[in-house]
Amino acid sequence: MRKLDPYQIREDFPMYHEHNSSFKGKPLVYLDNSATTFKPYPVIDSVNHYYKDITANTRRGDYSLAHEADVAFEASRKTVAKFLNAETDEICFTSGDTMALNEIAYGLIPFLHEGDEILLSIEEHASNILPWFKVAEITKAFIRYLPLEEDGRISIETYKKYLNNHTKVVSLASVSNVMGYPLPVKELCALAHEKGALYIDDAAQSVPHMKIDVKETDVDFLAFSAHKMLGPTGIGVLYGKRDLLEKISPTFYGGEMNARFDKEGNLSYDDIPYRLEAGTQNIAGVLGLKSAIEYLEEIGFEQIHQHEMALKKRAVEGLLQNGNAVIYNSESESGIVTFNIKDVFAQDVATYLSSKGVFVRSGQHCAKILPEHLKTQGTVRASFYIYNTIEDVDALIKACQTAEDFLDAFFLE
Ligand code: ALA
Repeated sequence: MRKLDPYQIREDFPMYHEHNSSFKGKPLVYLDNSATTFKPYPVIDSVNHYYKDITANTRRGDYSLAHEADVAFEASRKTVAKFLNAETDEICFTSGDTMALNEIAYGLIPFLHEGDEILLSIEEHASNILPWFKVAEITKAFIRYLPLEEDGRISIETYKKYLNNHTKVVSLASVSNVMGYPLPVKELCALAHEKGALYIDDAAQSVPHMKIDVKETDVDFLAFSAHKMLGPTGIGVLYGKRDLLEKISPTFYGGEMNARFDKEGNLSYDDIPYRLEAGTQNIAGVLGLKSAIEYLEEIGFEQIHQHEMALKKRAVEGLLQNGNAVIYNSESESGIVTFNIKDVFAQDVATYLSSKGVFVRSGQHCAKILPEHLKTQGTVRASFYIYNTIEDVDALIKACQTAEDFLDAFFLE
């Protein structure tokens, strides 16, 4: 186990090294980790290793170089499976969380009919709403949205009221990318199963920050992206229980997902997981994901959580002390702080913070139904990860102190 020391961890990240802790002459205070994370050398080295040393396509070549690529590719699948406590053939590679959720939603089309219900929540990201729009249109199933409590949580009591005998699918982010409350997935999933519904875990914001065990939670499907957990962009994972992966129809058709086909149009699929991996895969990305998992596991999610919570506590206290901030999720148990500076448009705050070298996301964060509940057009979001320091948080607080005055002056001119 490695001690989580963010100053030491930064040594592994060229984004800190090569910019010498600064970006275009300003301190580099990167607080947009819910959008994407920096990559450490071991991840970059794994990606480079594929391109430099073992480039060949996987599952196609009968020569030793291709075999080497195959072995590395399948070793990554094993690592992901162990990481989630899944079986190896239950892990399908995708281009990211969005593609995985689309494949799940589209794959379920044959099993959804008029009158069936798909239960989402008002805080879901576009990637866990828009595929269901399309599926609802095709199947005539009906989408219901769970509301949030005043504090932004999903309540079990309300959830129970929304579940009914028509509910066929429940699909929820186990941590929302804006509110950051971790859901009691095991309990929600068991209640969905009691009604005969499938439970899908959009784990984009949870897998990078907490230990996930799909056998323990018993979710039917789960999706996440590598790039939010130190891995490369363009690679993600679709986990599904074996019997369900065998049942859903593939969304993509092409090479290596089929066992045979003929000119009469007869097609038989390859076994899972390959039938859900049409075309050449992001092989370098898959190798990079393995290294990202190994890097995080060496630190351990207990330390990661404690670190993020300590930064969040300091950020919440500091922003409240400034006296000009409204925080929407002070109590959520994750490293996401969503706030506004009173009377200032969120995107103006982000632009101002950027001028101080503090990089945060602002706006609706792709969760475009949620702002109505928060009674605001948009919010500013700071999200922390393993390499963020107390100094980063203090830079955020300090810059926010002056944001209001600066922007008032700016608009009065
Ligand atoms: N889903 C990412 C975010 O929340 C892009 O910023």
